[in-house]
Formats: sequence, structure tokens, C-alpha cells
Amino acid sequence: MTESAFIAVCDLDDLPIGRARAFRVMDTPVALVRTLERVHALHDVCSHADVPLSDGDIVGNTIECWMHGSAFDLTTGCPLTPPAVTPVPVYLTRITQVDDRAVVEVRLTSAAAPADPSSTSLATSRTAPEES
Ligand code: FES
Repeated sequence: MTESAFIAVCDLDDLPIGRARAFRVMDTPVALVRTLERVHALHDVCSHADVPLSDGDIVGNTIECWMHGSAFDLTTGCPLTPPAVTPVPVYLTRITQVDDRAVVEVRLTSAAAPADPSSTSLATSRTAPEES
């Protein structure tokens, strides 16, 4: 499996709205954050120090690092408050309908690529599973 493929991570129902959950996707730490509108995926390591962002709080469209308080934009991964100054990678997500389950999939893309907002909308991103 390549990093360009979407990888099933969890059921949508496993993600509480407004909280982050930690996963490992092909050995990459990924924080999934479900909001009312979509599912965000960020690299689950703060760019300021080696701590998981998934232990932070969701405030609006940001996740706040629990260690020193930098707030990272969920869509772009950019830090909006110090001390962090470097963005964290964000990853593409999509929701695939598998039987009666909505499955969250993540694609590990290049570190600097922001997620495509249109690909993760809960209202528009349900797709049929690909045949293999
Ligand atoms: S470790 Fe995250 S802001 Fe310092």
C-alpha cells in the first residue's frame, strides 16, 4: 500500500464531535478531529516539541497543544499562536459508506499539502467503496 492511497482508519461513529482521537496510520501518528462539518486529520506531533496534539482541546477550528498552548488551525495545520511557528502536516480524509457503516479514511500526503476542504465534508464526501 502506498502513501497515496486512502486507508480506512475507523468508523465515523467512533469519533466524538469536538474531541481529538489518536491513531497510527502506516506507522504515522494521526489525530482525527470530527467537527459538525467534517473530519480533520493532522500529524499527531506538535511542531514545537514531541508531544501528541490529540491530547489537546478543540477550540473553534483549532486544536490547542496541551503543553504550551499553541493553537493549530485544523484545516491548514498552521500555528495561530506561539510558541509553535511551524505548521503540522494535515492529511486528506473522506467518508466511505461500507454496508451500513460510515468509514473514515485518511490519505497520507506530502507534509506541506493542506487538506482539500471539499474532500472531507460530511455532507458531500460519502462515496461508494472502490472495488479491488
Ligand atoms: S509542545 Fe506544543 S506548543 Fe510547545
